[in-house]
Amino acid sequence: MTHSDAPTASAPAGLRDRRGRLLRDLRISVMDRCNFRCPYCMPRETFHESYRFLGSHERLSFDEIVRVTRLLVRLGVRKLRLTGGEPLLRPNLTDLIGDLSAIDGVEDVALTTNGTLLAKYAVELRAAGLQRVTVSLDSLDPQVFMRMSGGFGGVEEALEGIEQARRAGLGPIKVNAVVQRGVNDHTVFELVERFRGTGVIVRFIEYMDVGNRNHWQRDAVVPSRELLQRIASRWPLEPLQPSYHGEVADRYALGDGSGEVGFISSVTQPFCGDCTRARLSSDGVLYTCLFATRGTPLRDRLRGGACDDDLLDALRALWRDRSDNYSEQRRGSLAGDGERKVEMFYIGG
Ligand code: GTP
Ligand code: 5AD
Ligand code: SF4
Ligand code: SF4
Repeated sequence: MTHSDAPTASAPAGLRDRRGRLLRDLRISVMDRCNFRCPYCMPRETFHESYRFLGSHERLSFDEIVRVTRLLVRLGVRKLRLTGGEPLLRPNLTDLIGDLSAIDGVEDVALTTNGTLLAKYAVELRAAGLQRVTVSLDSLDPQVFMRMSGGFGGVEEALEGIEQARRAGLGPIKVNAVVQRGVNDHTVFELVERFRGTGVIVRFIEYMDVGNRNHWQRDAVVPSRELLQRIASRWPLEPLQPSYHGEVADRYALGDGSGEVGFISSVTQPFCGDCTRARLSSDGVLYTCLFATRGTPLRDRLRGGACDDDLLDALRALWRDRSDNYSEQRRGSLAGDGERKVEMFYIGG
């Protein structure tokens, strides 16, 4: 442990950034491709048939991902989340999960998926060491779903995926729904109704201005407070304590004891103050914020023979220098200084 990582009377040991935040979570995008074209993430007009996704040699190999993860675990990471694009499109993903869950110090390995391939892989994923899954499912209404997935069906597949994941023991299962005014906000009751009593936790996400291409408009954001009031008019809601420090969702119990719902309110109630997350893109760029305009490319260094100590020094310095708080600043000036932000599909949310 270096001197400045040492514990003080008031703060526990660990590497802290300039705002005093520990490094605790690593979100790993294993695949930039997706079989959906959700307009809020990968709008079809940009991500068309001739869009150039990464070639397989451009993506980090499993060994490279495991190496970066090991180093970051030495700096404090405890939670891993695999994302995409769609992570289940990455061939042999279970091999990677096996390696990651065997790393000493890793306490939680989760995966965020659109659910289309989940039924097929649930048992394999659990056997490899995956602990839990989160399924993105914006609406149960097939027409609304189709609009929000960019023209694809998939409600039945996602529901079957959730069922198979439950049977395989990949819980607690969460459902993420991005809410857009006038698009799916009239279908949120149905989601709560469908999953209450099943143990599946539905979480509503405020539509965010991620990336540069999703035509984000503030009018389309339904503030969580408004959504909460609407839901509470049907099912009384009681606030719950966060289940861990820095949890992004505000949790509420359904008053009749049938379950819980969550609200992720990055636009109206930013949670940068507790942000302990680093993000690794599928081509090996490390980002310290979801809205970053720049990341730190690691791939060439990994492939160029950098030793662990040099990489560790670089990673430690990167986290120490971090001061990101985009969502808190957003309220002042939109999209920072106009620089291009990293795209959501590339960094995994
Ligand atoms: P749990 O460990 O289950 O609590 O996972 P999680 O909620 O951290 O992960 P998940 O992938 O389900 O994240 C839900 C959504 O919250 C993401 O898709 C993002 O839209 C949003 N989110 C997660 N982390 C951040 C963050 O650091 N900043 C912002 N602005 N949004 C985030
Ligand atoms: N705003 C909010 N959430 C988004 N996601 C993707 N794009 C956006 C956006 N613009 C969500 C997905 C998924 C998670 C990884 O990120 O629905 O649940
Ligand atoms: Fe694919 Fe998820 Fe992006 Fe939709 S939100 S395009 S499912 S990565
Ligand atoms: Fe963390 Fe950036 Fe999200 Fe703030 S906006 S919570 S700093 S990822």
